[in-house]
Amino acid sequence: MTEEFYDSAYLQKTGLLAQSMKEASYESFKCLRDSTIVDLGCGSGEDVYRLSKLLDSSNSIIGADHNAILLNEAKSKNNARSNCQFIQTEAHQLPFANNSVNALRTERMFQHLKAPYKTMMEINRVLCDRGEICILESDWKGLSFYHENSEVEEKICLYLTQKKVNNGYASRTLIQTLIDCHFKIEKTQIFTTSFHSLEEANEALQINTILKECYDNGFFSSKEYLDCLYSFSELNAKNAFVCSINSVLINATKQ
Ligand SMILES: C[S@@+](CC[C@H](N)C(=O)[O-])C[C@H]1O[C@@H](n2cnc3c(N)ncnc32)[C@H](O)[C@@H]1O
Repeated sequence: MTEEFYDSAYLQKTGLLAQSMKEASYESFKCLRDSTIVDLGCGSGEDVYRLSKLLDSSNSIIGADHNAILLNEAKSKNNARSNCQFIQTEAHQLPFANNSVNALRTERMFQHLKAPYKTMMEINRVLCDRGEICILESDWKGLSFYHENSEVEEKICLYLTQKKVNNGYASRTLIQTLIDCHFKIEKTQIFTTSFHSLEEANEALQINTILKECYDNGFFSSKEYLDCLYSFSELNAKNAFVCSINSVLINATKQ
């Protein structure tokens, strides 16, 4: 999002919810041997360590991120393994030689980028021919509330995609960006995460904060804001609050 609100506690929490899609994102790497595999935008490094346990030990796994605090947390985890390393870098300027990376995974990073095309071309530069890219991205346009007033949902999605998140439509535009940057799409999958209480939704998505920001940024009138807060908590009290968000998983190869 525009301001980086995530810390390692947030990434741990949301990572637990994303377990099945994370597993799916590792799948195509399982046959790799003697390969260099990068997790770009690795955050606090959970996926780097999981990959190092799951994949053959002849592979070298590199976590890359521009956030020094998250990288330090990643490095300090005592499950450090010898075939893992972490580097600090901007995604659009990677410190790897041309055609030197065999596979690259990136989760929930493209939504934060101001220059996604430049980053995709940089990934293309460092990947070897037929090298794999696997992207997992939240679909902010696919956030749904099972609520009678659909205008509320539309305004929340508009705020998230056009104001709060730098590249809020990343989940929708990534396929074309990959094609434009000379990748062949191999597979696409959609995962849905649902929340059945306001507490669960707040924990994972900070819904109440988002509603307040919709009001603060003029996407809701004060009446809409108060009505929305009231109706969500009324539904919640009746065990009837439901919301869901989609994520897209894309596998592609460099042509
Ligand atoms: C929502 S977090 C996801 C972290 C991790 N992939 C996960 O799923 O747990 C987004 C990550 O992308 C990183 N990031 C955002 N913009 C970046 C950029 N321009 N270059 C490198 N990393 C970036 C952030 O520092 C953060 O660690």
